[in-house]
Amino acid sequence: MTKPKLIGSIAVPGDKSISHRVLILAGCCKGISHIEGLSPAQDCESTANCLQQLGIAIKTQETNGTKNKQSACVSIESPGIKNLAAPQETLFAGNSGTTIRLLAGLMAGQPFTSRFDGDESIRKRPMARVLDHLEQMGTEINYLDSEGLAPFTISGGNLQGQEFTLKVASAQVQTALLLAGLQASGRTTVHLPGIARDHTTRLFKYIGIPFRNGNGETYHAVSVESLDEPIEPFQYKVPADISSAAFFMVAAACLPGSNLVLTNVGINAGRTLVIDVLKRMGANITLLNERIMANEPIADIRVIGSDQLIGTNITHDEIASGVDEIPVLALAGALCKGSFSVKGASELRLKESDRLQLIANNLKAAGADITELDDGFIIAGKKNIPGKSFWHTHLDHRLAMSGLIANLLFDNPVEIEETNSTAISYPSFAQDLKSLLG
Ligand code: S3P
Repeated sequence: MTKPKLIGSIAVPGDKSISHRVLILAGCCKGISHIEGLSPAQDCESTANCLQQLGIAIKTQETNGTKNKQSACVSIESPGIKNLAAPQETLFAGNSGTTIRLLAGLMAGQPFTSRFDGDESIRKRPMARVLDHLEQMGTEINYLDSEGLAPFTISGGNLQGQEFTLKVASAQVQTALLLAGLQASGRTTVHLPGIARDHTTRLFKYIGIPFRNGNGETYHAVSVESLDEPIEPFQYKVPADISSAAFFMVAAACLPGSNLVLTNVGINAGRTLVIDVLKRMGANITLLNERIMANEPIADIRVIGSDQLIGTNITHDEIASGVDEIPVLALAGALCKGSFSVKGASELRLKESDRLQLIANNLKAAGADITELDDGFIIAGKKNIPGKSFWHTHLDHRLAMSGLIANLLFDNPVEIEETNSTAISYPSFAQDLKSLLG
């Protein structure tokens, strides 16, 4: 059977992680900020909807008479972090862990009670990793159903800065605590046990929010103090999302004859595991036009296809720089020559689904030789994967998109449980993929 190829050039939508932060930080400024290329992800809409409940007006501007969601230009008008309104209804995060955790940090500093909730998946994800620390800073937390899980309320205000050493290199937890720290008396310092995405401090610098960045011997530390002056609104252009680009990168790298360019992709050092791993596997990947846009490194990424990828091992220290890309990288692992392993990745069990279990079960059913470990998996790569199996997604967008890529790489298609969840991060994924198949 001849396999398809990915040919052409594409700008995937704006970075989801950065878009959440830009929305929230614009919501902390007094006045109107303008953002180009905001992510059209449902997750970012959840953040925007919550912010609107705080008296922040968010409007999509029309370009050429249409509201083009893919490259939306959005204005965000806020009364400033010291004048936010108390939400009248539950702040509903939908499926978005970044929304609920980052906004918990923001609301911890506000002198009223906010109620948080989300969908079934959010209700299973650990919240204590953020809320325990916010409690230590002086917030009152009430879990409404089960300890450590949503739904919960936060009664904020009167925060006291603290020094925290996180057990996991979580950029979400770090950012939540820094947002609380900007509203606390004294200094708040967060030590991270390893490298993670630093979009938050890059944005702080871009906007002019003071912080201190110090590297200890083993920890990366960031400190902030209370924001006394109002922050000026800003203009920003969001880079393309490397986590979305990753699906096309893996497909192109594994399909001989592919020649793909992904433009304006963010290559923040806390996000580049997918590039590093594919290169280690022997993929032909070139970064073109490396440059800085809005204080983030970006590049155009060229990928030339091959069917000669070799195995590699992904270790614990690397996971934070590609935690969302492991499901799609596992597809390259299933088809490589030799052995492909992921270890120290138990965080993947706490994402939108238990991703380690789903990767292992889906690949095994499709005919791959994979062994699930407590904290990862080991694959003995094969030249061909038969497919013709059922691909569970558990409504996890990254599993659904991985299933669509598996259908290009395996000998026969898999039956994917659902693909609507792709809209959580990349609403036009299926159309964009089709456009590259020619
Ligand atoms: C994110 C950080 C990661 C990632 C998530 C987005 C962020 O979570 O999995 O999709 O925007 O900070 P953790 O920091 O909890 O690992």
